[in-house]
Amino acid sequence: MSAMSATITKTFNKKSLYLLSGATAAVGAGVAFKWYQNDNRNKGSKGLGALAAGTGMHIAQCQKKPEDYQKVYNAIALKIREEDEYDNYIGYGPVLVRLAWHISGTWEKNDNSGGSFGGTYRFKKEMNDPSNKGLQNGFKFLGPVLEQFPWISHGDLYTLGGVTAIQEMQGPKIPWRAGRVDEPEDKTPDNGRLPDASRDADYVRKFYTRMNFGDREVVALLGAHALGKTHYKNSGFEGPWGAATNVFSNEYYVNLLNEHWKLNKNEAGQMQYDSDKGYMMLPTDMALIQDPKYLKFVKEYANNQDAFFKDFVKAFSKLIENGIEFPKDIKATTFKTLDEQDM
Ligand code: HEM
Repeated sequence: MSAMSATITKTFNKKSLYLLSGATAAVGAGVAFKWYQNDNRNKGSKGLGALAAGTGMHIAQCQKKPEDYQKVYNAIALKIREEDEYDNYIGYGPVLVRLAWHISGTWEKNDNSGGSFGGTYRFKKEMNDPSNKGLQNGFKFLGPVLEQFPWISHGDLYTLGGVTAIQEMQGPKIPWRAGRVDEPEDKTPDNGRLPDASRDADYVRKFYTRMNFGDREVVALLGAHALGKTHYKNSGFEGPWGAATNVFSNEYYVNLLNEHWKLNKNEAGQMQYDSDKGYMMLPTDMALIQDPKYLKFVKEYANNQDAFFKDFVKAFSKLIENGIEFPKDIKATTFKTLDEQDM
C-alpha cells in the first residue's frame, strides 16, 4: 500500500501528522521523516478529498533529531540566564510560560481550530488580542532563537519556550514532541478565546471544558501562577502571587490557603485580592478555594509538591498538544537542564 493511500484511509477528526513512504518517526528515533498535516476545520469541504488532491495541505519536511531540539532548548535557557534583568529581575521565564499557554489556550475542541499547531500567534490579529498584552516581550525574546534555528516551526518554538522556562525555573521535566507546522494567516483564531480573570468558579469550569480539562487538571494548570506577576499595563491587575516569582513550586496553593486575602478595587478599577505580604490573587484564582471541588485539589497540592508536579506535567503536555494527533511512533523528548549539562 502506498503511503498516500495508507494516509487517506484514516478518519480525520484531529490535526494529524501522517508519516509518508517508509519513513520512521524522527523525534525520539532520530530518523529522517516527512509528514502531512491535515486540518479538519471545514469538514466536508476540506478533508480526505483535499488531501488526496494535494490541495490546501501544508507539507513540512523534518530531519531533526532530539539533539537538535536540545540545542534550541539550550539557546533559550542560556538567553533566559543572560537576560535576567527583565521585569525587575524576574527574568523571561514566566512570560515564556504564559506565551506557551496563550498560544495553546485558543484551542476549540468543536472544530479543532486554534491551538498551538499552526503558530498563528505570529500574525497581528492574535498578537494584538487584548488578552495577549505583554506577550510580545516573549515573542521578541524568541526572535533571535528563531534566526539561529530557522527550521523550527513557530508552534514548536513557542511550546518549547514554555517547557524550557519551566525546567530552568526548577520545575518538573516536561516530555515534549515536535511536529507543529506553520499555518497561513487565515487560520488565526478570532480574539476572545482566552479567559476573563474577573470571573468565578462556574465560569472557570465551563471555560476549561472547551479544552477538555477537568477540575484536577484546571487546579494543576493554575499552579503556574506561582510564576511572574500581573501588570497594570497588560491586564489592569497588579502584583505577584507569591515570593518566589521565578521558581516553579507549589507556593501558589500554599498562599491561597494561608494568606489573609482582602478584596480591593485596584487603581485601574479592577477587583483583586491582596494579602498583607503584598501578594495578589485574581478572582479566578480565588475561585479555586471558593469552590469545594477545586479546594480539595488545592489542599492536596499545597501539602504535596510531588503530586502537583506530576499532575502539572500531564496537564501542561495536554494543553500544548491539544488538537494534534502525533504519529504513534513519535516519541517525546525529555530535555536536560543547563545544570545537568554543566553549562
Ligand atoms: C482561568 C485561567 C487564567 C486566567 C484568568 C489567567 C489570567 C492571568 C492574568 C490576568 C495575568 C497577568 C498578565 C499581566 O498583567 O502581565 C496572568 C499571568 C500569568 N499567567 Fe495566567 N491566567 C490563567 C491561566 C494560566 C495558566 C493555565 C497558565 C500556565 C499554565 C498561566 C500562566 C501565567 C503566568 C506564568 C503569568 C505571569 C506572566 C508574567 O509574569 O509576565 N496562567 N494570568
